[in-house]
Amino acid sequence: MTTQLEPDLRPSYLEHRAMRADAERLGRLVAAAQPSDGERLEAVAAWYARYEGAIHDHHTAEEAVVYPALLERDPSFARADGELEGQHRILADRLTVARESLGGLASAAGGPSWEREAAEAVLAAAALREIIDTHTRHEEDVAFSRYRRAFTAEEFTELGRAAWKVVGARAVVFAGPWVLDHATPQERARLLAAQPLLLRLLHHLWLRPRYRRISRPLQLPSPPAAPRPEA
Ligand SMILES: [Fe+2]
Ligand SMILES: [Fe+2]
Repeated sequence: MTTQLEPDLRPSYLEHRAMRADAERLGRLVAAAQPSDGERLEAVAAWYARYEGAIHDHHTAEEAVVYPALLERDPSFARADGELEGQHRILADRLTVARESLGGLASAAGGPSWEREAAEAVLAAAALREIIDTHTRHEEDVAFSRYRRAFTAEEFTELGRAAWKVVGARAVVFAGPWVLDHATPQERARLLAAQPLLLRLLHHLWLRPRYRRISRPLQLPSPPAAPRPEA
């Protein structure tokens, strides 16, 4: 019977993977930034604002819907709940610092404060990466394991619906294609197949092309190709 099935946590793991992968990518990107990259860094900052919003939405859903529901079923979650919400606060602060550093770096491009801004942006990205890594792995250990025991698949899906009502449509517009961008082709096909036809069409025709445009500045330029030997 469906109600006996464990929750499917693969989308939750995938969202954490997307957060970690992009925190790491941001670190590489600011470390490789050049004073001539001002325009590209502005575009990265625009992408980052959406990434930051998606992480805030993720935490809002956890704190407003998922953690309280788990606490009600499993009071032994109380201590871990306090730790996780404390990490959310640290993470929110580091997201702000990384945003400000990225903005500072973009405006310093070609100017005298470039070196200082670049050093700060590298530190801010590393601090962000560290807390995202620590938090998501801790949550997978202490909360995901409890979700499996406390909820049926149907109940967990219902919590997901309640969470979407809290965070609103922007969760679909950015977070949908963002998370799918980090999925393997098999994961992407399976996740999309579970969506209504209208949403799949929206994804292919609008959301995915839009996300590709927004995230294009994250691609580091390839080094110049080596000249081919003369024939
Ligand atoms: Fe969390
Ligand atoms: Fe999470």
